[in-house]
Amino acid sequence: APTPSPTGDLAGLQVVISTGGTREPIDPVRYLGNRSSGRQGVAVAVAAAERGARVTLVAAHVDDGVLGDAQRHPAVDIQRAGTAAELDTTVRAAADRADVIVMAAAVADFSVPEVSDVKIRKEDGTVTLDLVENPDILVGLVEARRPGQTVVGFAAETADTDDELRERGIRKRARKGVDLLAVNRVGWQEGFEATENTVLFVDGTDEVVSRASGSKREVADALWDAVLRLR
Ligand code: CTP
Ligand code: CA
Repeated sequence: APTPSPTGDLAGLQVVISTGGTREPIDPVRYLGNRSSGRQGVAVAVAAAERGARVTLVAAHVDDGVLGDAQRHPAVDIQRAGTAAELDTTVRAAADRADVIVMAAAVADFSVPEVSDVKIRKEDGTVTLDLVENPDILVGLVEARRPGQTVVGFAAETADTDDELRERGIRKRARKGVDLLAVNRVGWQEGFEATENTVLFVDGTDEVVSRASGSKREVADALWDAVLRLR
């Protein structure tokens, strides 16, 4: 039987979502990484699929247990990326035919330009790692944006007050040039492994256009609501 055409308020949209954290190799057994679990991006992907979108989910080091919901959804195509450079190539290729791109991945800001072929040993003495800044994938997507394409970024910020969080969000939104920035408050306790999140959304008018707090799914639905209001 033919697959029924999807219904939902995102039906007809092709969306690309990146999630997880990149790992930048140091030597054959070590890497620079971060604490991102990929849960928020997976929730954004599942929400989009359930609301009728066709989804490409580019996953950087997401545990299978976390990817599970997305893997089970027939409208979600999962692609893998390890490093920031791989994520860049994979997301750019998928972005070609996307109506909406959401960069929820935690991209390493720096990588090691000279990866050692052999395991670095203590007996070789003190180690100094030279790091180079990685290209900003999101800025590249904004530069290549087609008319009608919506680009969304995520920012995890530490802030003492709501005002500080908002100010940081407005500044980062402008620096990136994205249509929408989801600003997630993080600390040692909140954000990365937490089940409850506090997120505010900043758009091109440099205003907080909406807020969400609750589960990652609730945040994901608030994100899609905000995207739809912009389109
Ligand atoms: N991002 C990206 N490529 C990078 C770094 C970040 O595409 N090399 C994207 C992230 O996926 C996210 C957004 O940019 O959607 C914001 O990431 P963040 O780390 O908050 O921004 P940075 O510009 O790296 O600033 P900071 O110095 O605060 O880390
Ligand atoms: Ca960063």
